[in-house]
Amino acid sequence: MLNKELLKEATEFIYSCYKEQNKTAREIENRLNEITQQLQSHGFYEHTTEELEYGAKVAWRNSNRCIGRLFWNHLTVIDKRHLHTEEEIRDALFAHMEYATNEGRIRPTITIFPQSLPNKKIRIWNHQLIRYAGYKTEHSVIGDPGSVDFTEICMNLGWEPKYGKFDVLPLVIQVNDHTPHLFEIPEHLILEVPIRHPQFEWFEDLQLKWYAVPMISEMSLEIGGITYTAAPFNGWYMGTEIGARNLADEFRYNLLPQIGSLMGLDIKSNISLWKDRALLELNTAVLHSYKEDGVSIVDHHTAAQQFKLFEEKEMENGRDVTGDWAWLIPPIAPAATHIFHNHYDNEIVKPNYFYQPKPYE
Ligand code: ARG
Repeated sequence: MLNKELLKEATEFIYSCYKEQNKTAREIENRLNEITQQLQSHGFYEHTTEELEYGAKVAWRNSNRCIGRLFWNHLTVIDKRHLHTEEEIRDALFAHMEYATNEGRIRPTITIFPQSLPNKKIRIWNHQLIRYAGYKTEHSVIGDPGSVDFTEICMNLGWEPKYGKFDVLPLVIQVNDHTPHLFEIPEHLILEVPIRHPQFEWFEDLQLKWYAVPMISEMSLEIGGITYTAAPFNGWYMGTEIGARNLADEFRYNLLPQIGSLMGLDIKSNISLWKDRALLELNTAVLHSYKEDGVSIVDHHTAAQQFKLFEEKEMENGRDVTGDWAWLIPPIAPAATHIFHNHYDNEIVKPNYFYQPKPYE
């Protein structure tokens, strides 16, 4: 029986994708016939390499919360749809890390594993391929509080906790309904940046660091009605993600009180604006350290300018830019960017990346 919903999604995708790429009406018609046949005989269809690549790029272009979309067309798409075992997937993830990290000259990259089917499903349980563990102790958390649940899952699956502040979690890969497999990530694949400050020499005593490449691994990629449940992707960091959120949020590393005190500020008084001053110096330190180490990073002012260019280019191409204002504005100095003063329509356009239910819990 023909899956009408899937055919409709596929048709919409093929039309827009092929038209954008200046394909002929004949090519569109042929491809749609082919897809219809595949749907009739198998209940699903396979993307061509070109469709997969374009779909992944457009999914980035349609990501309403991303300020970095100017570079949507410069995504390296690695097609790993032929892989099946946990070990093969692990090796592909290692290869992704090495290629994307590129010794600091980060390359936006996505690796796409087999699409989800009724009898087949691949999930990477990690939120990001590289992320720090968080351990709940009696009165506090050691490490990243954002990872406490997942760290417990890893321990239940046999992972040995190290109880450090920056322990990289293992990869957790699940094929179908098998017990997930755990793999430690070799050290040489984990590029990290020790955080120091261009003026404050005491800053390095805090012994802070962060990893170079944010590789989101929990989201699905949807193209033309087909869902890829394992399709980890990365760009490079905007400094504020680390300096104003990961290291600063009260429910993450919560470092502002410590930094404010070391700066000699009155952290008892709101009107001293100690949080603002601490945020500023922490973010200065993050940008300075990544830059000095030759690791790609963008400050929020430059990122906003790049987003402006993206908006202009999209308009030139006759496309509307959708966006999620609350996510697009940077968490520090938002009103110093044009984004703050604009309105964005948060309509969800496909292809796109989506949250999916956590495989644990
Ligand atoms: N905000 C997340 C983090 O701090 C990363 C999200 C993706 N970021 C990016 N620049 N591509 O780890």
